[in-house]
Amino acid sequence: MHPSTPPDTGHHSDRRLLQALSGTAVWPPPVWLMRQAGRYLPEYRATRATAGGFMDLCLSVDHAVEVTHQPLRRYQFDAAILFSDILMVPYGLGQAVWFAEGEGPKLTALRSRAEIDALSTDRFHDRLSAIYQIVSRLRAEIPAQTTLLGFAGAPWTIATYMFEGGSSKSFETAKRWLWHAPDDFAALIERVTDATIQYLRRQIDAGADAVQLFDSWASALGGEAFERWVIEPNARIVAALKDSHPATPVICFPRAAGVQYRAFAQRVKPAGLSLDPTVPLDWARGELAGCCLQGNLDPLLLVTGGDALRREVDRIGEAMRGYPFIFNLGHGIVPQTPPEHVTQLVEQIRGW
Ligand code: CP3
Repeated sequence: MHPSTPPDTGHHSDRRLLQALSGTAVWPPPVWLMRQAGRYLPEYRATRATAGGFMDLCLSVDHAVEVTHQPLRRYQFDAAILFSDILMVPYGLGQAVWFAEGEGPKLTALRSRAEIDALSTDRFHDRLSAIYQIVSRLRAEIPAQTTLLGFAGAPWTIATYMFEGGSSKSFETAKRWLWHAPDDFAALIERVTDATIQYLRRQIDAGADAVQLFDSWASALGGEAFERWVIEPNARIVAALKDSHPATPVICFPRAAGVQYRAFAQRVKPAGLSLDPTVPLDWARGELAGCCLQGNLDPLLLVTGGDALRREVDRIGEAMRGYPFIFNLGHGIVPQTPPEHVTQLVEQIRGW
């Protein structure tokens, strides 16, 4: 250590991930993984088994804090991400949300304008008060140099769940609404956007150092629809947070948006942009300049492991060296990932 380096005071300027988000090339790059807490870890499965349903796990302060800590005990990640789910916003607005074992999320699908208008922010913060407590406990408990990430789903992705009543491949119901009844669809998007701004502001006030917006189904829209339902709501949330919390960076993830990433970056101007595995990194460095880039290892390579994993990780590092960059996956860890492959990955990056 240089003799004039100040001692670790726990000030956030020591957080490498925040340095990258502020536009600095940090080497080796900071690393965290989407879904770093989850079913690939036996200790997660054990906690999950005692918690009841998945919603109970997310809304129990002790359990959610414990599960967030679990990957940090094993791996030297630069960030902890609040353990929760993007469907907490529909839940906060009064929609019923539950997880049927082995079937993924279920919601009571919206069927009318009256049901859209009945969604209410009146009890929103009450229903989600556990989340704010989880964030503040995490900020007090995790190491000072570790960044705490809050998150939410972006409005289009959330709207697909609210209209479909669960996961979908075609988004047929949501698309029917947006083309047949654009005013009703706009009313829902506006309500979700406003709620998301309030939700993220409260997470930041509770201690989140940065937040990520997941637009997992951004690739389902193109042209005008991408502009109106992906770019505009993300832009409104990023602008609102810049206004109220100028020191807190936002990472956006318009997953699989292809060349539409360029218009997204230009219009939304997030501090960070998370890339799915299909985005060529040399293209991203040129076309998405101005954003710290995050990504973009294929999560299935982390299942494969070995030399194939090692080579691809090196290739990503070589492409992004000298550029503001956060190493991550291009989508969440899958349950069949061997935990020791994550050890191999983090050690490789720390050894650069
Ligand atoms: O990254 C993290 O570690 C934080 C936790 C987190 C979860 N979900 C936990 C979770 C985050 C950031 C999410 C985001 C999320 N949730 C997204 C966006 C990211 C993405 O993957 O595209 C989406 C679309 C959801 C909605 C959702 N939640 C689905 C479709 C499912 C079921 C799919 C599956 O993998 O089973 C969930 C459940 C869920 N969310 C689990 C976890 C750990 C598994 C639930 C369990 O333990 O049974």
